[in-house]
Amino acid sequence: MLNKLQGVALVAGSTFVSASPLAGSYSWAQWSSSPLGSGPVSSVLQASTSAPVTTSLSTPPFTSTAVVPSIGTSQADETGATSLLAAVASSVPEIPSTQFINYTQMFEDISHSGDGGIYGELLVNRAFQGSGATIGSLPGVPGGSVVSSENPIVPFGPVITGWKPIGDVFIHLTQLHPLSDALPIVLQLDIPFNATGEVGILNEGWWGIDVRPQTYDASFYCLSNGPRNNGSLSGINVSLRSNLTGETWVTSKIPTTNVSSFQYEHFETQLVNQAMAQDSNNTFAITFDASEVAGNTYYFGLTSLFGETYKDTRIRKDLGETIVDLGSRFFRFPGGNNLEGYSIEQRWKWNETIGPLINRKGRVGDWGYYNTNGLGLMEFLDFCEAGSLQPILGVYAGFSLDIFGQEGTSFPEDQMNLILEDILNEIEFITGDTSTTWGAKRAEYGHPEPYELNFIELGNEDWFSSTYPYRFPILYQGIKHVYPNLTLISTAFDENDDYNISIPAGGLWDKHDYQTPSFFLENFDFYDNWQETTDNEGVKIFIGESSVFQYDTPSGVVNYSNPIGIHIPYPNLISALGESVYLLGAERNPTVVDFIAYAPSFANLNWENWTPNLVSFTANWNETVKSSSYYMEQLFAHFHGAETLPVRTVSGNFNPLWWAASVDDGDTAMYFKVVNTGNSSIPLTINTDRALTAANGTMITAPSLSSFNYINNQTVVAPSPITNLPSPSGQAFNWDVPAWSINVLQFSLG
Ligand code: AHR
Repeated sequence: MLNKLQGVALVAGSTFVSASPLAGSYSWAQWSSSPLGSGPVSSVLQASTSAPVTTSLSTPPFTSTAVVPSIGTSQADETGATSLLAAVASSVPEIPSTQFINYTQMFEDISHSGDGGIYGELLVNRAFQGSGATIGSLPGVPGGSVVSSENPIVPFGPVITGWKPIGDVFIHLTQLHPLSDALPIVLQLDIPFNATGEVGILNEGWWGIDVRPQTYDASFYCLSNGPRNNGSLSGINVSLRSNLTGETWVTSKIPTTNVSSFQYEHFETQLVNQAMAQDSNNTFAITFDASEVAGNTYYFGLTSLFGETYKDTRIRKDLGETIVDLGSRFFRFPGGNNLEGYSIEQRWKWNETIGPLINRKGRVGDWGYYNTNGLGLMEFLDFCEAGSLQPILGVYAGFSLDIFGQEGTSFPEDQMNLILEDILNEIEFITGDTSTTWGAKRAEYGHPEPYELNFIELGNEDWFSSTYPYRFPILYQGIKHVYPNLTLISTAFDENDDYNISIPAGGLWDKHDYQTPSFFLENFDFYDNWQETTDNEGVKIFIGESSVFQYDTPSGVVNYSNPIGIHIPYPNLISALGESVYLLGAERNPTVVDFIAYAPSFANLNWENWTPNLVSFTANWNETVKSSSYYMEQLFAHFHGAETLPVRTVSGNFNPLWWAASVDDGDTAMYFKVVNTGNSSIPLTINTDRALTAANGTMITAPSLSSFNYINNQTVVAPSPITNLPSPSGQAFNWDVPAWSINVLQFSLG
């Protein structure tokens, strides 16, 4: 039976597509190394003062591609007009669903979206992490040669990048005076006897530092050498300055006469800044008056600078707002590939991301740069609380990727109890009361109340492995045994040719679609009878990662291998059109699809591991760009009723017009989403059995299918009110739906 749940009477060309959602497999490793240089193995500390690469980003580095974008049917269908009967609640005997899908965000640290992104730390290389880190070198891991990097931004091995001397001084890294076991590397500042004027160090930030009127929290650990530490200091100056002009925006003098030579002291200050810098080419400086310190040596560790954050969390304010403002109610973290690690040892270990920063050594991330682990489990959970987002916690499920693109590495079946135990500890840390071991630890770290946790995702894209068939049931049953109320999410169902995962009723399948516009149109009805046809009664779907990734090609094959050129650099109108049709298909099936999320969510424009991305940004808050796909999802997330509404098609068909309807709780408003993927307008008639007393509408369209938002043109593809929307006439509404447009119509019901 077609469409029984949403009550749509007719679906044009209703080929039920049951094919595997990802046509062809792809390797994460092909993505992993884009900006990395390869260099010799080196655990030697390097003293280099080379600046981070700064590129001009005011015009896009990639233009849209040689491929001519097209979408769907290019002409209005033969019938010309589409007429719909939208039946409202009062006259529909059976309301198909009282649910609505949840627009969700998926987050992992990719493209410096964590460090240098949503994590509010403004200093690059703040603690010289990465000491001795190598990738792929673990015993027993195939292809285990050591790979290291002399990457100019954040290396696998410690380098001094991002830091520069001020005045005639010498700086280098040393491990002779470790700050802590986790952070053994510090910056040594040697001030010659004959130094004059201002001396010190500066940090260039994550491709700059945003300076605007706000209060900044600065801190650092400092130790001095003994012999020449004469107690003559009048203070240590901390400032924000222009890297272009040297102009100082704000200074704070930390009053101290001495810096201990016995143990590190933690210095903290606030910079109450009134200035608005013209750009983000700014630096953070720690300086002394040379006349007070000539001949001295100082050691600096774990320096930090935070500007305003989202509701006092550790999340950069403007980026936190983009997550919440989309209308998201759920937040999946911490990955994505970045959960899994290049190897088992290098996985995201939740218990190494909690507690004081001085004890967090960080890890080699999966996207070519070191993760500080400042953005840890509690930072994510605190953000969820502040933004009223429910966490969807990805837990490590015993499978790690492999930078060389091989099978990956799995925990053996007879040791999966160790993984289960680790997950149970993590859940106890999040939800246990303070009488439990891990609940007490959480309280010690500042959050005595348990966090809310209802959803756990077991791994990430585990269909890449051959071992999920034993890992999934062990973890599923083991977690359910202790926490029966948790909803558990499988990361595989039928993607791997060799097996299907049997997901128990009540569970979810996280389905990923990085696809072409045509795929999304062709799969409009994918969810219509998915549970019945796949024998998955009671299982729901989390469209956990999806985007129009590549234009249609003659072969229809999606090429995942080349990050730049073949696929779409920035979401454009065609992206939003394709994705919106797919989402309408999901919205029509809220008893099948629980959550949807775009991925990846964020990319720092100075380091893009992957395109397209939902939101792009730089250090400069004014350069945070919401994409066409963001605006489309925001529109869809904000405008919907409480119940999906049956729509009976009287004439016309889906494609190039696509629609879904919902009605609010009190039957006073009807929301009608309609997308035209064709290149000409299409007349639409809606008849209802209730009087339509008013109509408002919002539309997303753009001058061309390849129009996209960028720094200097941020709202080319953005919603705007439909100003010439006709008024309804009694129970009927007639409108020509413009070509290539995404629309939400809101009707008041009499
Ligand atoms: O979103 C980028 C990557 O795509 C994710 O890390 C992974 O889950 C998927 O392959």
